[in-house]
Amino acid sequence: MNEERFAKSYRKEYENSINDPAAYWGKQAQAITWFKPPEVILTKNDKGLYRWFADGVLNTCYLALDHHIEAGRGDNRALIYDSPVTQTKKTYTFTELHDAVARFAGALHAEGLKKGERVIIYMPMIPEAVIAMLACARLGAVHSVVFGGFAPQELASRITHAKPRFIITASCGIEVNKVVDYMAMVRMSVTLAEHRISGIIVKQREEAPATLNEPLEKDFNSLLSTGEKIACTEVKATDPLYILYTSGTTGKPKGIVRDNGGHAVALKYSMDVIYDTKCGEVFWAASDIGWVVGHSYIVYAPLFQGCTTIVYEGKPVRTPDPSAFYRVIAEHNVTSFFTAPTAFRAIKKEDPEGNYAKKHHASSLKYIFSAGERLDPPTYKWLTEIFPKQKIIDNWWQTETGWPIVANLIGLESYPPKIGSATFPVPGFNVQIMSDEGELLPQDVSGNIVIKLPLPPSCLPTLWEDDALFKKVYLDFAEGYYLSGDGGYKDEEGYVFVMGRTDDVINVAGHRFSTGEIEEVIGSHQVVAECAVIGIIDAVKGTIPLALVVLKDGSVITEDALEKELTALVRSTLGAVIAFKQAIVVKRLPKTRSGKILRKTLRLISEHEKVPAPPTIDDPAIIDEIRTAFSRRKVGIFVS
Ligand code: COA
Ligand code: AMP
Repeated sequence: MNEERFAKSYRKEYENSINDPAAYWGKQAQAITWFKPPEVILTKNDKGLYRWFADGVLNTCYLALDHHIEAGRGDNRALIYDSPVTQTKKTYTFTELHDAVARFAGALHAEGLKKGERVIIYMPMIPEAVIAMLACARLGAVHSVVFGGFAPQELASRITHAKPRFIITASCGIEVNKVVDYMAMVRMSVTLAEHRISGIIVKQREEAPATLNEPLEKDFNSLLSTGEKIACTEVKATDPLYILYTSGTTGKPKGIVRDNGGHAVALKYSMDVIYDTKCGEVFWAASDIGWVVGHSYIVYAPLFQGCTTIVYEGKPVRTPDPSAFYRVIAEHNVTSFFTAPTAFRAIKKEDPEGNYAKKHHASSLKYIFSAGERLDPPTYKWLTEIFPKQKIIDNWWQTETGWPIVANLIGLESYPPKIGSATFPVPGFNVQIMSDEGELLPQDVSGNIVIKLPLPPSCLPTLWEDDALFKKVYLDFAEGYYLSGDGGYKDEEGYVFVMGRTDDVINVAGHRFSTGEIEEVIGSHQVVAECAVIGIIDAVKGTIPLALVVLKDGSVITEDALEKELTALVRSTLGAVIAFKQAIVVKRLPKTRSGKILRKTLRLISEHEKVPAPPTIDDPAIIDEIRTAFSRRKVGIFVS
């Protein structure tokens, strides 16, 4: 580790970052290559929002590719594509990936794409998805990747909001052994959207090629082969690199903005101090490019660091069995492995003894990083048995930040882990616990997790074209603080325990969804008078959504039939990945005297034997009614 860049201890480093953020991040910014290094480190813009490195000029694609070629690493492996669902493996060196990206960027430019314009990428886990992202970055265009499991209406709402020039997609995705018709979804979303796009660029896949309707629909490979290589466009540090939509309480997805400069500085820093993975090592994040973990740790951070990244098109199980992850780790000499606890729970369910692990030697593996949801103690314990020689490290973060807020900084100074805690705040994140009334709380007392402003580089400067919503959702709770939406506490040594969302957001298999959005869809069914969606415990996915539904008077439908109709409705409107499958008909919902549905009480009833009636409830007898309904349908604690 570079002596000058870092202090010897985590505590000193953290203190420096909090006492003088501008000096601290000014120094860290020197670790990346700028076209014009920033002199102005931290500013507030005319809207009162913080910005990092305002006068710095750079290009994100340059840092990911060109920089390594110039440094003589062109023949190193940049990307390995491993697809058990298509039986394909392919490796790209930095030179090969650069060649494809520069040509594809040239083709996009020739098609009229300009700096600052948006491109939606709706693709499965194939190298072309990474090529498309990097090509946008090369041109200074703004990509917005939409996860393939979202339905056309969700894609349409993002098209309407981001107003892209192009959509880049594939003819199909492959989910284990099922072919998903991406083209049909994209075509439908384009008709539903209020914004007209200029073209759909399609990577044809042999499992289900599409008949393209020229000139709107264009072939990805033809563009790639005819495109002329183009150099990197200079962008300002504060220019947006991407928009990533995520769920919030409002029911409408929010467009998280990531800028170029802060993102590059923070991700490079994270590879040094949090992920401790060096240039030339293999970093595998088993996630999807549609989520923030995929953006940061499949695409950008490993490439910034000169690591080899893996694009894995498969699942932890069923492709073909629970050995999938162990095989990839051993075969590609993975040093650092990153995934969500849900993936390990899926493996543990099918192979609790770890017999499949014994067949593959993970001799290269140093670290297992876990994020997306809390690393629950049973999964942590199981992991320590399966991987006795590796360090297992939880890290807490959000789409909003783009990198960890709380982690064990093993690249700097490793601390003994405490089960259930992601360890300490990362330098730059002044993490505090606050009551609902805005009072800072002492150690061991649970409350809202807030972060004192300014947030460090990479964190969202605002929401896409919506400063007012940004302020309302994140900043209005307490002056000078960012509201994370998570609850938790710090113990006497400062370890942070993140215990779950405090709002109406649920976490399904490490994916974040808004119960409000699901309720909106369910409420649109003709027999539904009102409904409440809550997250109930699931052994593999952590949480899954469940709807309690009150029928309109005179409705004639069985609970079973309604459940099927609502399942199909949520699937076709929001997407299969929401994993909505359960609806229970009840006579009424627990409410406060002012008519607000007590969703937290509903969740508590599904999790605890005894739930005291909250003082605000309009009729305490309803608690028993709901208990009876849960017990009839074997929900939560009533499973056995
Ligand atoms: N395109 C189209 N459909 C998709 C999709 C995609 N990219 N990803 C998921 N889906 C569909 C699945 O086919 C499935 O449909 P089905 O109901 O018809 O079977 C549904 O969405 C749910 O998918 P998934 O969440 O993958 O659940 P699963 O039951 O198939 O697998 C796990 C469960 C735990 C194995 C899986 O969720 C997993 O691997 N999770 C990893 C977590 C992760 O990557 N988190 C990211 C944050 S780090
Ligand atoms: P997303 O924005 O989709 O990455 O989801 C972020 C949310 O996932 C956070 O607000 C948390 O609720 C949850 N989360 C992610 N990582 C962790 C973690 N390590 N511990 C606890 N919760 C986590």
